[in-house]
Amino acid sequence: MSVRVIVGAQWGDEGKGKLVDYFAAKADMVIRFQGGDNAGHTVINDYGIFKTHLVPSGIFKKGCKCLCNTGMVVNPDELLKELGEIESAGVDVTDCYISSKATILMPYHVTKDSIKEDGKGAIGSTKRGIAFAYADRARRLSLRFEDLTELDYVSERLDLILDTTNTELIAMGGEPVMKEDIMKKVSYWADKLLSRIVEPVSFVNKAIDAGLNIIFEGQLGAMKDLDLGIYPYVTSSNPVAAYAAVSGGFPCAKIDHITGIAKAFSSAVGKGPFPTEMPDAEAAEFRGTGEKADDEFGARTGRARRLGWLDLPIIKYSATINGFTEMALCKIDKLDTFDTIKVGMGYKLNGKLIDYMPSTRELEKVECIYKTFEGWKCDTTKIRKMKDLPKLAQEYIQAVEDFVGVPIKYVGVGPEREELAIK
Ligand code: GDP
Ligand code: IMO
Ligand code: MG
Repeated sequence: MSVRVIVGAQWGDEGKGKLVDYFAAKADMVIRFQGGDNAGHTVINDYGIFKTHLVPSGIFKKGCKCLCNTGMVVNPDELLKELGEIESAGVDVTDCYISSKATILMPYHVTKDSIKEDGKGAIGSTKRGIAFAYADRARRLSLRFEDLTELDYVSERLDLILDTTNTELIAMGGEPVMKEDIMKKVSYWADKLLSRIVEPVSFVNKAIDAGLNIIFEGQLGAMKDLDLGIYPYVTSSNPVAAYAAVSGGFPCAKIDHITGIAKAFSSAVGKGPFPTEMPDAEAAEFRGTGEKADDEFGARTGRARRLGWLDLPIIKYSATINGFTEMALCKIDKLDTFDTIKVGMGYKLNGKLIDYMPSTRELEKVECIYKTFEGWKCDTTKIRKMKDLPKLAQEYIQAVEDFVGVPIKYVGVGPEREELAIK
């Protein structure tokens, strides 16, 4: 049995979807525990190429139960659309469940996010309504999936909720929403989704007690954590591993593997400090044109990702706050053609080396100290064992492992499920 949490070690888009799909081969349950359809997790397997947004990436494993758990904000229309798309590729989606305590992300959350992002104070959000859905959850103005069982109660709640929502929408320059329209949607969602709603605490704890193989699939990465990331350029939930237990309603001590997924260089979508960011001309070499599945364009928004060299202080910070027991380093193959490869090894702030993660504003000012590694200049994509990687690639991986102090057990050598070199 194992309870494994898989989380992003950087700014998101590290390859979590691929690794969850890989581990799901032996899993009984895969659970998303935060975020919403801002996620874009690429999975390439026998069924095709998918970008999962809400549905856990374990859906492709026959008999594996998938749960959108309590910490998530779920847009029911997007969930239904995504389930439909996956099903039409021949995948059985019967076993996809939703926590009764998960928050319903409403159409007006999307409207508010879009208005806000098009105006002052934009942070580069995905415009999926995430921040506004979490804000309503925090101020107790949400509907949860359990409410879909009692439409009279929803109607009562909406009187209160829409009072505030419509005042705010008008103040933001938007159109007010009509209660009848929302009620129509809610009863449609109840009709389509009631059979998927489960009481989450017993669902998860029974699975743990039965000794099942369970994977918790994180969204985004440590630097975008609401509390511990580059606030305010963060998401509105906690992508760190401990939140899997908080939102799952089970003790942290039951987690036995925390797998940090990093990629061999850095990327970020949206605004905020990025110490190892490359000038755009240099970044183009990594980014590609968007034609290939592994080109560096946002899986959710299609935006060109900002790119940079690997930043080890970020990965080490991430290992500290998550407690990684092992790591995967993806996309090493993308470095196959480089003569030399730079790696950020430390930061200087006001001319002095620092040994902590500075504040967001300080991170904007740090000078990154680099080490240059010699490139291995050969194709790694056919290699399946880490010991068979070129010596110079092994040295690169070893340097990451030594700096972070966590064993790297999986190395990504291509976008497909099998393209992994394993220790
Ligand atoms: P996630 O959000 O962490 O699941 O990552 P994304 O799917 O958004 O972005 C990772 C991208 O890298 C996707 O295009 C994957 O297909 C691709 N990918 C993952 N691992 C590897 C790898 O080892 N090599 C290559 N070339 N591509 C990879
Ligand atoms: P995965 O799961 C990369 C970024 C947005 C923005 C910030 C907040 O594929 O790694 P939000 O819409 O959450 O309010 O936006 O977070 N962002 C992502 N960046 N990958 C993602 O997901 C992201 N989800 C949100 O660009 O900077
Ligand atoms: Mg992604």
